[in-house]
Amino acid sequence: MGSALEEAAPADGRQPGASRHHVLRIRGLTVGFKGDPVLTGVDLVFPRGTITALIGPTGSGKSTFLRTLNRMNDRVPGYYRKGEVELDGQSIFAPGVQLMALRRRVGMVFQRPNPFPLSIMENVVAGVRAHGLADRAGRRRIAEARLREVGLWGALAHRLNESPFRLSGGQQQLLCLARALAIGPDILLLDEPTSSLDPVTVEAVEDLLRRLTPAITVIVVTHNLAQAKRIAHFTAFFNQGRLVEHGPTARVFGDPSAEETSRYVTGRIG
Ligand SMILES: Nc1ncnc2c1ncn2[C@@H]1O[C@H](COP(=O)(O)OP(=O)(O)OP(=O)(O)O)[C@@H](O)[C@H]1O
Ligand SMILES: [Mg+2]
Repeated sequence: MGSALEEAAPADGRQPGASRHHVLRIRGLTVGFKGDPVLTGVDLVFPRGTITALIGPTGSGKSTFLRTLNRMNDRVPGYYRKGEVELDGQSIFAPGVQLMALRRRVGMVFQRPNPFPLSIMENVVAGVRAHGLADRAGRRRIAEARLREVGLWGALAHRLNESPFRLSGGQQQLLCLARALAIGPDILLLDEPTSSLDPVTVEAVEDLLRRLTPAITVIVVTHNLAQAKRIAHFTAFFNQGRLVEHGPTARVFGDPSAEETSRYVTGRIG
């Protein structure tokens, strides 16, 4: 007999109020840096185990939005926020939320690759080490598996002790992706992850992202509309700090409800 109480406390450890369907829920999110907000009143849900593409012109607030989802803006001078981001029904801004724990669940790869000043090997397992997730032999296995996953193992197997700063920009980006995957996040935030990659590598990364779901929920900012169409179950269109439209990718591209979405997806603005 299923009582309301049982429904409110799922047996799988999620918090009361969590939705089975939506891993993240954004309510009335407004974000700014000192002056006018750069994002206003964003309401959005991310279904568990899906890929959502965030698209929109440069400066529309996509990166700011993405960075808010694992509290990367917290220390930016002048940063302010209204509204909520709920991860499995719990505010990520609640007192007592540990940033380390949040970022273990919500991993991120930035628009510009940011390898750490450590060896290539130590970069991949930096998070694994910080969270104490594996011993030395385990870290070595994880590093190999993740470098293979992003297609870097062949090129880097013999360079694991070298600095990452001599790698190409694209290789650095893939290294950061391997590092983000190594901690086993539930949600992966990707800011233009393939913008500096050649077409063959782009295809490989897109295949990888498809394989990551449904185990992981992926949120990816991209300027490549064909990419959004290829990989994303859902697409959200941002313009001038507002979420204009959100829905199944085929619908947003094929039958947009707003004129500005239509102009963007047909290449007439942006
Ligand atoms: N740290 C910051 N301090 C002040 N303003 C910021 C900061 N970060 C972003 N902004 C402003 O917020 C607005 C949105 O920037 P954001 O980087 O989110 O855009 P974007 O959609 O990711 O653009 P792009 O496609 O070029 O990456 C811009 O006007 C930008 O100048
Ligand atoms: Mg950006």
